[in-house]
Amino acid sequence: MAVAISILVGTMTGNAELVADAVRDVLAGAGHPVEILPMDSLRPDVFGRGGVFLICTSTYGQGDVPDNARDLYEALQAEKPDLGAIRYGVIGLGDSTYQDTYNNGGKLFDTLLAGLGASRVGARMEHNASGGSFAEDDAVEWAKGWIGALKALTVAA
Ligand SMILES: Cc1cc2nc3c(=O)[nH]c(=O)nc-3n(C[C@H](O)[C@H](O)[C@H](O)COP(=O)(O)O)c2cc1C
Repeated sequence: MAVAISILVGTMTGNAELVADAVRDVLAGAGHPVEILPMDSLRPDVFGRGGVFLICTSTYGQGDVPDNARDLYEALQAEKPDLGAIRYGVIGLGDSTYQDTYNNGGKLFDTLLAGLGASRVGARMEHNASGGSFAEDDAVEWAKGWIGALKALTVAA
């Protein structure tokens, strides 16, 4: 069976949730068991559940992770779990009108997880709310490529 995927969602106004829903359909269609987990009450031990993780988060404030992602982000920083066995992907939502902090939420998680030893699968996706495309559409296209990267991983393992 294809690897299980947990989509961890950081959102302020729900866009990342819509993206997670759209991506779930693509991943599930390819045979992956998928679960969407809002970050609200997650602890670092969420990374013990196995499978692959997909961080789907927007950016708020001055390049910060959304409020519902802050506890998990800070707990990972404080507890520094060894995530050496973890594989993850990142979908970041942002707006290029915030020039200096564009898509920083996704970048923050990417940097943090990599620093804890985890390995990113595929390129980080960045959606630009001022770019004229719908985040769900971009994410669905991105997810098709990500499925290929996951397959390559399984074959190599
Ligand atoms: C108050 C506010 C602050 C924001 N700050 C940033 C930012 O610093 N960088 C960025 O790329 N996008 C920023 N954004 C854009 C959001 O990340 C973007 O609109 C995203 O699609 C929201 O997704 P969400 O509904 O899942 O939270 C900001 C939006 C708002 C309303």
